[in-house]
Amino acid sequence: MSLLKLQYIMGSQIGRRSFFSRPPEPPADILINDPMKAIYIGTTKLFNIPFSWTFSNLTNPHIAIVGVTGSGKSYFVKSFLLRASYIWNANAVIVDFAGEYKKWTIQSGGVVVSFGKGSYMNIMDLAGIRPLDRVKQIMNSFDIISDISTFPEQKRLTQEAIEQAYVNMGYIIADKPPEGKKAPTLKDVIALLEEKLQEGTYEYPAELENAVYRLRQFAREGDDYFARESTLDLGKLITSGLVDIDLSGLPDENFRAMAALFILQTLKEKMRAEGFSETKGLKLLVVLDEAWKVASDPKSDAITIIREGRKYQFGLIVASQEPTDINQDIFSNVGTTFILRTKFEKFLNYLQTSINFSNFIRNEISNFGVGQAAVEMLFTTATRFPSTFIIEKIHGEEPLYVYILDLTDILASSEISANIIQKEYQFEKEELRTKFIEFNMTSDSIEAIFSKMDSQSRSIKTREFIQELRNANVDNAVIASFLKNIGLDDAIIARIISNT
Ligand SMILES: Nc1ncnc2c1ncn2[C@@H]1O[C@H](COP(=O)(O)OP(=O)(O)OP(=O)(O)O)[C@@H](O)[C@H]1O
Ligand SMILES: [Mg+2]
Repeated sequence: MSLLKLQYIMGSQIGRRSFFSRPPEPPADILINDPMKAIYIGTTKLFNIPFSWTFSNLTNPHIAIVGVTGSGKSYFVKSFLLRASYIWNANAVIVDFAGEYKKWTIQSGGVVVSFGKGSYMNIMDLAGIRPLDRVKQIMNSFDIISDISTFPEQKRLTQEAIEQAYVNMGYIIADKPPEGKKAPTLKDVIALLEEKLQEGTYEYPAELENAVYRLRQFAREGDDYFARESTLDLGKLITSGLVDIDLSGLPDENFRAMAALFILQTLKEKMRAEGFSETKGLKLLVVLDEAWKVASDPKSDAITIIREGRKYQFGLIVASQEPTDINQDIFSNVGTTFILRTKFEKFLNYLQTSINFSNFIRNEISNFGVGQAAVEMLFTTATRFPSTFIIEKIHGEEPLYVYILDLTDILASSEISANIIQKEYQFEKEELRTKFIEFNMTSDSIEAIFSKMDSQSRSIKTREFIQELRNANVDNAVIASFLKNIGLDDAIIARIISNT
């Protein structure tokens, strides 16, 4: 009897503890999804469950990522984009404020467009959008990047001149534009305002002058990245696989924000026009990394897109070092948030009020190592489990690193050259590492040879390579067999070994 009583008491006490009554991780059937339809992220901290991401049960496919520098945001984004392309054949457009995805994009076979270095984008291009809507968007961008909204007269003058520039080119403001028709540029708009100024009949010439001055910063020779005929077709970019739009070459944050806002609006309209088909997964992922003006201003399209949810058929990924650069509206509407290592109290407070996780999670976040993350998901239906859980480590795709054994130094000795068909041999990093391990090299000498090759753009000449192997006590017979394996014939090998 007393035993029963004891169990009863314990049972009720345990029941009151949230740890037991509410599981600290979502159940496995939420975390584990069909590998053909979901993106693998990593295993959960508590129960080691492999978590794969899908948006099928989430309010939308959009993602926010925060974390201090070096916490692994870009690494996550890169792995995510690659897997999305395998699974859904999803295209990706990276609006790359700091130019940090450039190298990786090239390595992954994507296309890099560098503004400020030979690429131009006419922000008056319509790309199928009605002039009226583009005018609104341009004015909205000016609102976000400048204080024009506090000068209504300048705003009005600018807007009217932009509209007039379209009319002068034969457009009808409220109609879908005809295809292939040339758009005016900001230079035409400035000319219209200047003309008005010259006429001398306008009551507030100072307002006119200021309006011209505002526009001119985007149209000055050398800085006219957005005021010339476009060198790229944004419509095409959304079906071009992986595209990195590098904005790091633009003069300042205003220019970068201007470009990003233009790109977002165009993509939004394009995708909207195509309509949503749930079965296809995601067609396009758009990444905004360190886009603080674009992610923080409530008037920005980034916020509209996230608030309006799923209808755009693309996933917007917003990443930032500083959570406070991401509007609270984004956190409260985005389908998934990944919080990587975050330290400052100010940021943790901001995140905790936006997302509402426990102090336990808060403490974990501030102690995360690289690649650890707290994940918060917003489900379409009410859930009985806590929506924030911890990933022990984001398991990313290591990029394919190719190392080159450069045979040209041997080629230089003429008797050999005739018999060598290839000038170089390529190895994947792990393949080469496996070989070194087979050679019985110590991990120190393996690291040494890799860092030597890394310092020479991942390439090494034959003689230097053999010397390194010898320094690591690899004997000649092993070296000879390695060279034979890569296809050199015995006579050449004998010569190389005796020569080095
Ligand atoms: N999950 C991970 N597993 C293994 N290595 C990782 C992981 N995440 C990040 N790294 C490595 O850590 C380094 C920093 O990562 P990353 O560049 O993604 O940081 P970041 O958060 O984007 O920083 P920043 O804000 O400065 O751009 C990189 O060398 C990356 O390869
Ligand atoms: Mg980064």
